[in-house]
Amino acid sequence: MTNKTSIQGSWASRWIFILAATGSAVGLGNIWKFPYITGENGGGAFVLVYLVCILLVGIPIMMAEVFIGRRARKNPIDALSDVAEESGSSKSWGLIGLMGMLSGVLIFSFYSVVGGWVLYYIKVMLTGEMNGISSDDAGAAFGALLADPATLLAWHTLFSIMTVVVVAAGINKGIETATRIMMPALFVLLIILLGYAMTTGGFAQGWNFMFEFDFSKLTWNAALIALGHSFFTLSLGMGTIMAYGSYMTKDASIGKTVLAIGALDTLVALVAGLAIFPIIFSNGMDPAAGPGLMFISLPVAFGQMPFGQLFGVLFFVLVGVAAWTSAISLLEPTVAFLVERFKMKRITASIGLGIVVWGLGIACLGSFSFMSDVTFFGKNTFDFLDYITANIMLPLGGIFIALFAGWIVKNKFAKDELNLSDTVFKLWNFSMKFTAPIAVAVVLYFLINPMK
Ligand code: PFF
Ligand code: NA
Repeated sequence: MTNKTSIQGSWASRWIFILAATGSAVGLGNIWKFPYITGENGGGAFVLVYLVCILLVGIPIMMAEVFIGRRARKNPIDALSDVAEESGSSKSWGLIGLMGMLSGVLIFSFYSVVGGWVLYYIKVMLTGEMNGISSDDAGAAFGALLADPATLLAWHTLFSIMTVVVVAAGINKGIETATRIMMPALFVLLIILLGYAMTTGGFAQGWNFMFEFDFSKLTWNAALIALGHSFFTLSLGMGTIMAYGSYMTKDASIGKTVLAIGALDTLVALVAGLAIFPIIFSNGMDPAAGPGLMFISLPVAFGQMPFGQLFGVLFFVLVGVAAWTSAISLLEPTVAFLVERFKMKRITASIGLGIVVWGLGIACLGSFSFMSDVTFFGKNTFDFLDYITANIMLPLGGIFIALFAGWIVKNKFAKDELNLSDTVFKLWNFSMKFTAPIAVAVVLYFLINPMK
């Protein structure tokens, strides 16, 4: 273990690291994306593959990212090339970090648009305009929002500014404190919503939909989406967790910390699904409704429950905070790189990057209106960026990080940093060398060459 610290500073304690990394992991991926892709991919078998991916691929890769970052105490590009160099290999391993930064920029552009939808729904809940709304009207209201680029632009801009302000301020106490209060609160609200969902009469159906593992419904494409989502939801494959790891104190146990983060993230996703699907089924809505799933089902539920308006406001505020802490982490690797490599001021780097990602976001929000006929491989800009980042770029980044940690980094360094028992270390090492890269490669292969 080394005694270096990052020039960006470090987390006050290992709890702060867990908090910050959980803040990055728990976000729209859990509450918005997980339920809707589960709905689109037929439920149970998809959920099972997702859980296996988290355990066998996600958790071990997260451990690799954390230890590489913590060992080098630098941004992902320089961390990868430094650790490569001290292991006697080529500095060009740093290029994985470059692809990661690009992924972060592309993810931010649609993430911020969805963050904007959440902010808009806070407003709608506050004014009570959706009280008692029917599911058809809630669907129409969401459609009308998508068709209105000026409104989307305003909320996307607000979300981008909120994010840049925090990133510019550095590893800041404000966001740490906010996360500390908001994460448990989010959890409590999810439980309340879950309690409500249990009374709707659709709970058994929702439960079966998520946990009836019918493998005849599983396709390679669904497996790819499950695998890709396991990277997306844990913020892996792009250097975010590596950057956060570079600010971690050296006394913290990487294994336990990473397990805690993975467990929390998974729990939030499952609870979100169990809260949303019963509402969908009891109102006769379509589980495969896509990105609008949460924005259509929840206003209907809140519109019917006692104190629904209050809970609705709170719920969307918390989803907004979860999205916000994740968005911050999307920009952190690139900002750290610009500061460390080019000696830029943090504020300049944050604002500059913010303008770029905000601009890209405009193409995403236009996907539903003025840019709807611009398509890539049959997908609009929003769907295309979501698809290639989560399903291709993050898994590819993940393969390379695993191969790097398993084959390039000297075992002695990995052992030093990870501090695992011999057996667990061997399991981890095997996953880096074989399980994780092969799983990703197989799934990508079948995506490119679909089985007849
Ligand atoms: N993990 C976040 C979520 O589930 O919403 C999204 C994300 C954040 C992905 C940061 C990647 C990342 F680097
Ligand atoms: Na997540």
